[in-house]
Amino acid sequence: MAFDPEIRDALIEQVRRFVRERCVPAENEVAEHDQVPADLVDEMRELGLFGLAVPETYGGLGLDMETECFVAFELGWTSPAFRSVAGTNIGIGSQALVLFGTEQQKETWLPKIASGEVITSFALTEPEAGSDAGGLKTKATLQGDRYVLNGGKRYITNANVADLFTVMARTNPEEPGAKGVSAFLVRRDLEGLSVGKPEKKMGQQGAHICDVNFDNVDVPADCRIGQEGEGFKVAMSVLDKGRLHISAVCTGMAERLISEMVRYATERQQFGKPIMQHQLIQALIADSQAEAYAMRCMILDAARKRDAGASVTMLASCCKMFASEAVGRIADRAVQVFGGAGYVADYGIERFYRDARIFRLYEGTTQIQQIVIARELARAAARGDL
Ligand code: CAA
Repeated sequence: MAFDPEIRDALIEQVRRFVRERCVPAENEVAEHDQVPADLVDEMRELGLFGLAVPETYGGLGLDMETECFVAFELGWTSPAFRSVAGTNIGIGSQALVLFGTEQQKETWLPKIASGEVITSFALTEPEAGSDAGGLKTKATLQGDRYVLNGGKRYITNANVADLFTVMARTNPEEPGAKGVSAFLVRRDLEGLSVGKPEKKMGQQGAHICDVNFDNVDVPADCRIGQEGEGFKVAMSVLDKGRLHISAVCTGMAERLISEMVRYATERQQFGKPIMQHQLIQALIADSQAEAYAMRCMILDAARKRDAGASVTMLASCCKMFASEAVGRIADRAVQVFGGAGYVADYGIERFYRDARIFRLYEGTTQIQQIVIARELARAAARGDL
């Protein structure tokens, strides 16, 4: 059933006001200090942002995918670091539990995740297993009623503040591919778990990624999510949803950049008139608007299909590929419309240009989305569904 439209609209309006009145004015400060201020994080907790996708039974808002995308459009309007604070709790850090957790696992963790008391991270990527996620090497060896975890994860978002990790690890050493992988809930305070220093990045200051290492970490067997060998499927199902969410964030950023372009082009005069009246500038802005509109439409379509129970693996990859590539083009055009000012930090456009670059990499590169789309088409053809 679709989310109540009145409640949905009130929530979107609340988030819009928070983003535009509280986050936008703090963008430079966040970039400079590489930190989202604590009072804004508290406000995000009060708004319920950490629990957007946690069912109401466990203290969350229980949004359907369509409504989550509407909220993500709003969050995308400002520096992505703000969204990232709650992003792992909303998506990749919580959804393995929501989709595959036992009742006891859900009762233990989801209320704290929804309130933002517990921060979660998704630990799939390793130094030698990025795009080839099924080739991961971190081991989980069953010993009695525990698994012993050894190995290391790389570039894990929010690991510096995470209390709980969803960790994909190999439980079957005889099976080198996706089938040998299982998923685990791993508490940060377990002995042998250590987190590296946040990496220095091209953009998205205020959002942090770190290595996570496991040195003989004892994980109780009841912390496994799903069956042994199901971990890769768990991770991919989480990413299907995460990719839609990221696409919606890209859309919000695209719309912000378009509004910045229009505002600047209306004020900036060259050759005796506002540059908005020059057709070559109009073309840059018009192309951006058409792409942003296409992003919105395709994401909402895919989200509604997911809400109706359809598999959206291919559609999520289409959205992620198109939206992340398009926002990159739009950020580039925004620099062009701003001219020299687009290259100067004070105007904030170069910051969005850098921030946008990661969207084409994380939660699956553009090239991985292409592989997924082509494979799904081939499978549909083999089933006679094309
Ligand atoms: N949903 C459910 N199950 C799925 C699935 C999905 N979307 N995709 C694959 N599976 C299942 C398959 O059905 C298959 O199971 P069976 O053998 O039982 O049929 C199993 O998983 C293996 O699938 P593949 O054969 O397709 O696996 P593969 O090894 O060829 O890899 C891949 C496929 C698409 C390339 C995958 O590895 C992939 O998506 N790679 C990119 C990884 C990625 O996105 N990493 C991002 C890290 S997270 C991140 O960035 C977070 C952050 O901190 C910001």
